[in-house]
Amino acid sequence: MCRYLSALANGRACLMRVLPPVIVLLILALIAFGGPVSRKQTAQVSLGSHEYSYAERFRASEGGKTLARACGNCHSNQTNLPWYGHVVPLSWWIKKHVREGRQALNFSEWTTYSARRRFDELESICGVVSSGRMPPPSYRVLHPESRLETQDKKLICAWAANETEHEQ
Ligand code: HEC
Repeated sequence: MCRYLSALANGRACLMRVLPPVIVLLILALIAFGGPVSRKQTAQVSLGSHEYSYAERFRASEGGKTLARACGNCHSNQTNLPWYGHVVPLSWWIKKHVREGRQALNFSEWTTYSARRRFDELESICGVVSSGRMPPPSYRVLHPESRLETQDKKLICAWAANETEHEQ
């Protein structure tokens, strides 16, 4: 390319000229590549008022709202990806996490779970929150809204206890 720009015969000057546009192109390609992956993911998402967060158990109590806020991004079909969630290779890593999170526990499928499974999940929810295992530490760093104070953990456990009572 620089061969044609005789004024830039110097290799270093040539590199400085060519490098910035190449980097920009590379970033654009990564975003373009990451886009379809995440769009496919959000396609399963927009269920409007049928979404879990409109259900009374997640809307009508502080515990339920705290769960939706701190856990819903990975444990429901309602996933809001941050801008970097559209850029490979990060988008692959995030997508895998969300897939595994939904498999373990999906609030959007809560009503389709057996009573036995709901019972087990309710027990786990209070446990993983109290021990600080969930939300995962790496997630908490980037999502301040997911950090739980002692009070929030109590609300979640109270919510789980209340739901458990309803299951019986
Ligand atoms: C960054 C995504 C993410 C967030 C946010 C998140 N989780 Fe998870 N969760 C996962 C993944 C991935 C797994 C499966 C792997 C594992 O068990 O560590 C999981 C597993 C679980 C499990 C099953 C544990 C078991 O015994 O197998 C429970 C219960 C759970 N999460 C509850 C929660 C609760 C409650 C919150 C919110 C306070 C939350 N999670 C927030 C990703 C997430």
